[in-house]
Amino acid sequence: MNNKNLYVVMVGLPARGKSTIARKLKENLARDHIKTRIFNNGDLRRKLVNEDTSSPEFYNPKNSYGLAIREQIALKNINRAKSFINRGGQVAILDATNVSLKRRKKIVQLIPNQPLLFIECTNDDEEILKASIEKKVAFPEFNHLSREAAIRRFHERINYYCGIYTSLKNERNFIKLNSLYNKISKEEITDEIPYYDRVRDFLVTDTIKNLFLIRHGETYFNLQNRIGGNSSLTENGKIQAEAMARFFQKKKIPYIFTSQKKRTIQTAVPIKELQENCTMIPLEEFNEIDSGVCECMSYEEIREKIPQVYMTRKKNKYSYIYPEGEGYVSMKERVDRGIKKAIYLSANSENIMIIGHRAANRMILSHFLFRRKEDVPYIYVPQDKFYHIAATQYKKIFQLKPYGI
Ligand code: F6P
Repeated sequence: MNNKNLYVVMVGLPARGKSTIARKLKENLARDHIKTRIFNNGDLRRKLVNEDTSSPEFYNPKNSYGLAIREQIALKNINRAKSFINRGGQVAILDATNVSLKRRKKIVQLIPNQPLLFIECTNDDEEILKASIEKKVAFPEFNHLSREAAIRRFHERINYYCGIYTSLKNERNFIKLNSLYNKISKEEITDEIPYYDRVRDFLVTDTIKNLFLIRHGETYFNLQNRIGGNSSLTENGKIQAEAMARFFQKKKIPYIFTSQKKRTIQTAVPIKELQENCTMIPLEEFNEIDSGVCECMSYEEIREKIPQVYMTRKKNKYSYIYPEGEGYVSMKERVDRGIKKAIYLSANSENIMIIGHRAANRMILSHFLFRRKEDVPYIYVPQDKFYHIAATQYKKIFQLKPYGI
């Protein structure tokens, strides 16, 4: 076996993050000067097949016509990958569903005596699947359809793949990856796989190239020192949001994640307006700490009316859970899930933005930079500055910057 070359074969149902993972691998390997290329069957189909391939029937395994075309495309990409390796390429990534045993056996047969690593991407989160499908139906092949019809067709396509799906089990070398949580659920390595440690490490590392973490602009509740609720931005808050919009205009921000509260969405709107191509995704995971019985009260009122809450929280702010609400400790799981979702949905984008709240942003910050638990509830989260965070294996940034108001 030639141990300098590697074929990576992606496996998984449509919209499970295969292409994002493939691109992440390629980008990271390229940094180490390892010549890597992706051979994507969907891209080749869109290039070569003139007819309408948005129809689910094209993917029906019983449709011998569609099947023949798809097999030809797969074969073409296998041959292209082989000639890339023969010309000095080092890692060839076959990016396609490859969910049937038959297809995988064919790949093994056509690429004999070469290190082959299968990577299966799984992800059962309904909300993420929905958002991923929304992105898929933006492809030009669905242009002639309404959004609803395109989504329906895409689901039918997925169903056809489900019918022939066999998860990895008996392949000699494979990794099963939860692509939302970057978690390996199963792996089996029989042969010597070049670059294995590197590939494995890239797969499980959360990477965020540039995250601009912002707190919403000033609200009416902020002026009254009231917590929680769903208050709107004040005139000053709107001015802050517009200043942020101008500041970030020079940067390309393809995704802004907000909470589901008015104040973060109102902060995001002017920023999105000054961007050319920007999707705003409100995530419940980034909502502010739920202060339960204290919602909408001011700190002074809490101290006067329910002093035991005020005092107990003061003693151990991280672990304290508001009656009928949350505490920092219980927010961690959901905020971490939000970060995973944002990373997944933004698919390796150069820049992303999260507009959150004081406590939620503290939890986000502590995800990227270690802080002792007792210090997390005191992290400084101002409204006139933002945090710039980069966390990749090659770059770490953690800076508080003004946006120039
Ligand atoms: O005052 C704004 C706010 O976001 C409240 O909604 C929230 O309860 C509070 O900050 C969180 O900060 P702390 O944990 O310091 O009370």
